[in-house]
Amino acid sequence: MRIDPTLAMSDRQSINDSIDLSFALQAQTCRGIVPLTALARSWMLDAINDPRLFDWIDQYGSPLNLICVDPMSTNLDELQGVAASFNLDLGVFFARKANKCLAFVERAIEHKIGIDTAGEMELRQALDYGVSAEKLICTAAVKSDSLFTLCLRSGVTIAVDNDDELTAITSQAISLGIAAKVAIRLGRFQHQSKPLPTRFGFDASDFTLLDRIDRRMVDLVGFHFHLDGSDLHERVSAIEQTLVWVDEACRLGFRPQMIDIGGGFPVSYLQNESQWNCFWDELGRALLHQREPITYRNHGLGLLGVNGQVYGTRNTYPYFQPTQRVDWFRRLLATRLEGEVLADAISGRKLELRCEPGRGLLDGCGLTIARVEFCKPSGRDEHLVGLSMNSTQCRTTSDDFLVDPIVIRHPLSQSCEPVSGYFVGAYCTESELISLRKFDFPEGIGRGDLVVFPNTAGYLMHFVESRSHQFPLAKNLIWGDSVELDSIETQGMTERVK
Ligand SMILES: Cc1ncc(COP(=O)(O)O)c(C=O)c1O
Repeated sequence: MRIDPTLAMSDRQSINDSIDLSFALQAQTCRGIVPLTALARSWMLDAINDPRLFDWIDQYGSPLNLICVDPMSTNLDELQGVAASFNLDLGVFFARKANKCLAFVERAIEHKIGIDTAGEMELRQALDYGVSAEKLICTAAVKSDSLFTLCLRSGVTIAVDNDDELTAITSQAISLGIAAKVAIRLGRFQHQSKPLPTRFGFDASDFTLLDRIDRRMVDLVGFHFHLDGSDLHERVSAIEQTLVWVDEACRLGFRPQMIDIGGGFPVSYLQNESQWNCFWDELGRALLHQREPITYRNHGLGLLGVNGQVYGTRNTYPYFQPTQRVDWFRRLLATRLEGEVLADAISGRKLELRCEPGRGLLDGCGLTIARVEFCKPSGRDEHLVGLSMNSTQCRTTSDDFLVDPIVIRHPLSQSCEPVSGYFVGAYCTESELISLRKFDFPEGIGRGDLVVFPNTAGYLMHFVESRSHQFPLAKNLIWGDSVELDSIETQGMTERVK
């Protein structure tokens, strides 16, 4: 892998500049047999080109997560800029479940934004950092008594999901003599005359809930939702119906101050829409046996070829999205609801609009780097490339990470024959593939080389990481003027969390 020197001179002014890697790399050392080229940030090029990468892998182990926090600031600025252009009071609460590194919490504190916490550990860490209760929300999917106690004692707003939670919070509030701050989580919104399916929240059509709130001990601060995916029209429906709850609550004498629309701000990992479309077309052809497979054992990533037709739903994140978070947010706020602009409908009610972006704030913030341990032939024209890494270390709950990695040849690597094949990982199952996609390695690949997975900070590093086989978890290194381990490695699990 070589970096285009002209880019180094003129085009890399900011670590946040977006770069199409196919232009930036003079030679691609790894590309999908149907390519999906990463949209990278310029700091990533500097990192990929840094000879210390090999030392860091020796020192900290493989794989290694390399984090740059600065793109988070840019991403935040952009969202705040959109809200300001609508004169909207925006409260951003960083969904820190998307990455466990404390460097992001520290950056959120520097920017005086809020933090959305998904459990007791995350909440305690934020409180230990001195984050004030107003800047915190607890949206844990399942909440224990001890979590309620912590929220009540520290004055943190709880996003309440169901009647059992409401009852438990109320009885704790009575016994502790502390009023609970509560945001009602709504779900099952009507959209195109059907309820949006979800496991979360109260049914948005059942207003009797407001009668069950004990006003003496429960302070209803607002309404909350989070929808799966990034569909803009679904969000519009959800906001419209949440505003009806606000109006009804006000009519009954409550004083809601905010609505919280959760996360889901769309992120594009790829520059090129035609590559993305081509990938799915070619996968369909492979599933219909009209071409050779492009995935391991012709895996369908959610699709199935039957009798000349392709069925099913893609079980992956949409790694290319035509409308990214800033334009998406602008379009959302500009939508007209019965003649009124959505942003005005919110501010006209004197509400703060809150949101909880995770992936959207972490776009461009990380790389995952692993060492190649073997490259062996496997059947016809195919090689298996073994990495010191397992499949939980660059994965979410969906089928695959659909972005081409970058191979950095070790300085002492011999030039070898081009090969193609699959990345396999360290768990002992047949299904242990780091990616289901087949790749070409035009300059070969061998033991000691490094493989870099771009843009992995949002969920891909930590969401499903596991210590099966007693393998250690990947270390998290923060890239900056000096390069150091994130505090989660030293303080996160022990001293900070009591
Ligand atoms: C309640 C809640 N808020 C915010 C988020 C963050 O979503 P995203 O990372 O898509 O922005 C999630 C993600 O699952 C969530 O469940």
